[in-house]
Amino acid sequence: MASQDELKRQTGYKAVDDYVKSGMVVGLGTGSTAYFAVERLGQKLQSGELKDIVAIPTSVRTKEQAESLGIPLVTLNTHSKLDVAIDGADNVDPDLNLVKGGGGALLREKMVELSAEKFIVIVDESKLCDGLGPSFPIPVEITPFCHEHTIRTIAALPSCAGCDAILRMGSSSSNKPDGDEIAITDNGNYIVDLHFKEAIKDAPTMASELKSTVGVVEHGLFCGMATVARSAARVGSRRTMS
Ligand code: A5P
Repeated sequence: MASQDELKRQTGYKAVDDYVKSGMVVGLGTGSTAYFAVERLGQKLQSGELKDIVAIPTSVRTKEQAESLGIPLVTLNTHSKLDVAIDGADNVDPDLNLVKGGGGALLREKMVELSAEKFIVIVDESKLCDGLGPSFPIPVEITPFCHEHTIRTIAALPSCAGCDAILRMGSSSSNKPDGDEIAITDNGNYIVDLHFKEAIKDAPTMASELKSTVGVVEHGLFCGMATVARSAARVGSRRTMS
């Protein structure tokens, strides 16, 4: 049986093979699955199979990987419309609502992926769930200023009732506490992970309550954004593909 890494590699490679054409502006995701899509893009540029690609990375570590592969990089400042973005996710529900930010890159991911004509989500089977919440906490990026106040405010939101709101420690790219220091994102902010015991009933309402909380920079609920979700074994599509 193929290892989990091999399945991630196959899914990442196939997304690039199927969706990236010469001349495109491409959003590069962050994480262990997106890593393989970036690797494939680099290979195809080096072999000449793809030409005239520019890409926008969603984190410092993806930027470094892309640079090491010679992928030409631009920003949203000069290229505000992307043809396609390819990224992993922490959870995917049947309506293709996502949880993202387990790797701490949710703000840049959301900015880039909202600007993409097509957003291709690449996951392994373990990420597919019936309801968001219980199987992976919802990451929320918050300003360091008075962060304890912001965390209390979030925990008191009606849609967040009963959650455990835990400040991420250690590396921003892991929500398993792995250090004594507060994790800092690429944007200099903190992350609070919202742990739920039961499935979230209304993710769009929670998204809007979080978004209107002062002190919250962005949250990891990506509702209505994904064009298609692919795993090595299954493909689900929310919108009609052109
Ligand atoms: C990064 O902040 C995340 O949104 C990742 O895309 C997500 O955590 C999936 O990562 P893996 O592919 O490593 O599971």
